[in-house]
Amino acid sequence: MKYLIANFKSHKTLHEYEEWLDRFEQHSAIVKETTQIILAPAFPSLLAFSSRLVDDKLHPRTSLGVQDISPFPAGKYTGGVSTINLEGFSAKYAIVGHSERRKYFHETNQDIANKVNQCIVNDIVPIVCVTSQEIEAQANVIDADQRTQIMVAFEPVEHIGTGEADSLERILEIKQRIRAAFGEVKYIYGGSVDPNSETKLLQSPDIDGFLVGTACLNPETFIQLTNLV
Ligand code: PGA
Repeated sequence: MKYLIANFKSHKTLHEYEEWLDRFEQHSAIVKETTQIILAPAFPSLLAFSSRLVDDKLHPRTSLGVQDISPFPAGKYTGGVSTINLEGFSAKYAIVGHSERRKYFHETNQDIANKVNQCIVNDIVPIVCVTSQEIEAQANVIDADQRTQIMVAFEPVEHIGTGEADSLERILEIKQRIRAAFGEVKYIYGGSVDPNSETKLLQSPDIDGFLVGTACLNPETFIQLTNLV
């Protein structure tokens, strides 16, 4: 099974998301049997997604994710979206620690460890993003028994949004370090993955999936990618 995670970031209006879902649905019959899709829209559009995903209506191997989560439980944390707020939306995954969160929102490894904890105690699988600089330090602040319950995405900033993915050799080299630091986690790569990426990268048996930004914005491009991995 290969995971394909769509990170829509802060793009799109509600109307544009609905159009995306319509077009996705039209073509979803061709999604490869072995591809597991996770869609992570912006928070205000979660309801539009979850109501379409109910009872596998949109597509049987598609689930819902969020792009971030509060490091705190439900309570007096204005502006935070806690895992409790997600109840009823059937969100199963949360991307945490994306480099854009670390850079623009000043998140630390400890903040991300707190988010991981919130996810795990509430049955949401955290997809922890790291660059090569953060691997060991990030792993060290996550509880040892939680470390193996996560997915880890290697996300080199110098390859995000550039149109050129990192080399398979480097991605596999980093996998060794990630496995040494975190244990037997699912290993995801993100950074300019699109239908033009090399087949040896897209089909590498050593990578469990891909986090996709730019190439998820057009539903036809994203569906095309689901067939190439
Ligand atoms: P990109 O984004 O696919 O546009 O490079 C990936 C990411 O930020 O995870």
